[in-house]
Parts: sequence; C-alpha cells; structure tokens
Amino acid sequence: MRLSRYFLPVLKETPREAQIVSHRYMLQAGMIKQASAGIYSWLPLGFKVLRKLENIVHEEQQRAGHLPMLMPTLQPAELWQESGRYNGYGKEMLRVEDRHGREMVYGPTNEELITDIFRSHVGSYKELPLTLYHIQWKFRDEVRPRFGVMRGREFFMKDGYNFDLTKEDALHAYNRHLVSYLRTYERMGLKAIPMRADSGPIGGEDTHEFLVLAETGESEVFYDSAVTDLHLGSRVVDYDSVAQCQAIFDEWTTPYARTDETHDEGVFVEVPEERRRKARGIEVGQIFYFGTKYSESMNATVDDGQGNKVPVHMGSHGIGVSRLLGAIIEANHDDKGIIWPEGVTPFHCGILNMRSGDEAADAACDAIYDSLTALGLEPLYDDRDERAGAKFGTMDMIGLPWRITVGPRGLKNGVVELTCRRTGESEELPPQQAVEKIAQIYRDIQ
Ligand SMILES: Nc1ncnc2c1ncn2[C@@H]1O[C@H](COP(=O)(O)OP(=O)(O)OP(=O)(O)O)[C@@H](O)[C@H]1O
Ligand SMILES: [Mg+2]
Repeated sequence: MRLSRYFLPVLKETPREAQIVSHRYMLQAGMIKQASAGIYSWLPLGFKVLRKLENIVHEEQQRAGHLPMLMPTLQPAELWQESGRYNGYGKEMLRVEDRHGREMVYGPTNEELITDIFRSHVGSYKELPLTLYHIQWKFRDEVRPRFGVMRGREFFMKDGYNFDLTKEDALHAYNRHLVSYLRTYERMGLKAIPMRADSGPIGGEDTHEFLVLAETGESEVFYDSAVTDLHLGSRVVDYDSVAQCQAIFDEWTTPYARTDETHDEGVFVEVPEERRRKARGIEVGQIFYFGTKYSESMNATVDDGQGNKVPVHMGSHGIGVSRLLGAIIEANHDDKGIIWPEGVTPFHCGILNMRSGDEAADAACDAIYDSLTALGLEPLYDDRDERAGAKFGTMDMIGLPWRITVGPRGLKNGVVELTCRRTGESEELPPQQAVEKIAQIYRDIQ
C-alpha cells in the first residue's frame, strides 16, 4: 500500500475525550472514529488489525476442533423468556420491536440461540462432543461506555459453546478452550493470565477470566509471579488428548491467580512473599462450564445410548476481539505511539522515502516495495511529498514494527536504514539484505 492512496486520517491534536493511551492512539492513528457513545466505525487501519485478530482467533479455534458458524445479531425475545434471562438481564440488553410488534433483542451473548439450534438438530450422544463458535458483533448497553473500544456498547466478540454428554467431557472442552486461548493470546504478542473468577449472570460452576496486566485495567488482580514465566511456545498440543489439555490447565492454574471477586487473602499468604503480586488487568476473555443450566431450562436433551433422555453439559467461552486492540496497545506502546507485535501488525514494514521526487530514492523504494510484496509481505510505503519529520512522526504513531528508511545520501553508499520500532535500533544495509532480514523475522514467527 502506498500512503498517498491510503485513507489514514492521522490527528494532529491530542483528542481530549481519551482518558487512556490506547484510546488516544487509536484515534490519533486514524484507526477508529466514534459514531456515538461506545459505538465506533473501524477505519481502514483499525479494520486491518481487527481482521488480523479475528483470523488468529479463527485459526486457533479450528485447530482445537471447534466449528465456525454465524448467528444473527438480532434474536427473538421468546428464547430469552424461555431460559428465564429476559427480565434478569436488565437494561444492558437492547430491546427492539419490529413492525409486527414482535420483541427482539440485539444479542449481548448467544447461549439461548445456540441451545435452540442444538435442540432442533441433535438428539443422540453419537453426535457429541460438539463445539460451535462464531465471531459476531454484540451489543450491551453499558452504563458507562469508556476507554474507546475497551468498553464499548457495540463490540466484536468470539463466543463458542460446547455440548457434551457428561461433566467429564465438558471439563475437557473447558480445558481445551483454556489451551487454545493461551495459544491465541501468545500469537498476538500478549501475556494473558487465566485467573479464577466469578461467574456473574451467565451462571455456572467453573470459570476463568484471561487478564492482560495493565495499569489501566478495570479489574484488580492477585497472582503468584511464577505464572508470568509460563509459555506455550511451539509446543505441539493434541487437543483430543484429555491428559495433555489437563496437564496444561494444571500448569497454568496451580500458581495463585485470582480476580478481586474470588481473591482469598488466607490462601494468597501461602505464596512466598517475594512472588506475591497485586496489580490491575484487562479482561480479554472468559471461559465457563455451567453444566445443564440452559439445557434443562430449554430442554436440550440427547439419548444417552441406554434409553434415557439426558440434558447436555454445556459451557460458553468468549474472547473480546475488539477489546483486544486496546489491550494490545496498552501493553505495547511508548510516548511516540503504538508498537505492534509482529503477529498482529497491520503492515509488516514501513518504507519511508526521505526525498520523494528524487529519482534514485523513488526507484530504490519501488524496488524494495516490489521485493517485499514478492515475498508475501505487505509494506506501507510513505511516498507522500511531505517533510521527513512528518513522515517519521506518522510511522512512529502507527507503530509498524520495522521500517526501511531510504535517502539519497545512503543510496550513494549502497545502503538503506533498517529500524526496529520497539528498540529504536537502526542498522545500515544494502536494500536486498534489509528485505531478506524482514522476511526472515516474519518466517520465524509463523
Ligand atoms: N463492553 C464491552 N466492550 C468490549 N469488549 C467487551 C465488553 N464486554 C465484554 N467484552 C469482552 O467480551 C469477552 C466475553 O464477554 P463476557 O460476557 O465474559 O464479558 P464480561 O465479563 O461481562 O466483561 P466485563 O466484566 O469487562 O464487563 C470479555 O472477556 C471481554 O473481553
Ligand atoms: Mg467476562
């Protein structure tokens, strides 16, 4: 992409409404534009990152054996009346009436809709286990939408639902989700810690929230610092293996890690003092096992093979895809702007032409652009006729992890400058070597 053809409405002034850095940078970098309180348009750069996160979530869910589908945003109120949540959900649920006077809701979550699909089509234990998920816009009429996409009213969420014959099977599904979530967040360059949490209105027995540590987080968290040393890395996981998923679950949930709702000072003091941490975190996901809560109220039963009709064991599992953009920026920025982790960056590399219009500089930039593209990478080339200072400012703000700077002086010596956004370190290299180095960096994270 050439910046002269892109739509990147970078703001010169600091937006006054933004209280936290991720919100400010998303506005300044021209990623989002507020439509109304807690509702945003995703401009090309923001949309590109949102799509990357969505793709990672899809890949990791499907790797775990979960099936993608798509349910609508508008749901009939009757299903919510049937489950008993219609009144309980309160003012957070946006209720609308269609022209025939039928009550509808803009889905805040999908337990009812998915249970209705399940009971209409599945009648036997032979069709289990089954996990279905989708990534769809949700609406919750939050009292205080704030922090940009972090606490929106309309937000993009992955929600998945498992259906199992027994509690043991459903707990395996729970563990499988935990593992797939760990992998998802790691690919996004995030450390998200599973913490024992409270189940709230979804109801249920077991639940963990995944928290990204950040001072601006809305949750208070308590943990053993040993948990932050854990990595899945390139471990190969067999998601069908009950033992493997259980072992990873145990590894991550043995060290103390709880949100304030379930925090227990009596247990916490058993953690060696030097490892005890109190911090703040952003909730980027949550997994639940809730047994037969919905299958009983909504009559989702299967034949268990011995002639009995039994309610299925279920769980639901969410990832806040749009909130993740904010969380990633909170965890990856400096005073000049965003610093994207390689796994989610909107463009792989920036090309900055110090002297647009100079024949040699233009030709070198075009050649670098073509080489990167031929290697399957997506560069963003700042070909605008602007001062170099303004170009550096834009590149720093939008946070591409790597930048190649091309100027007439370097070209005379046959070199360009390759700069790492995170460390600020630069090196001079022949253009082809700079391209090869970037290609290798992205090959390594595959
Ligand atoms: N208003 C929101 N804006 C953006 N993302 C949200 C919002 N509410 C929830 N999410 C994301 O969706 C995920 C799954 O939804 P869940 O029902 O667990 O939310 P929640 O526990 O009500 O969230 P919170 O406690 O932050 O209000 C959350 O972990 C979070 O990442
Ligand atoms: Mg939650």
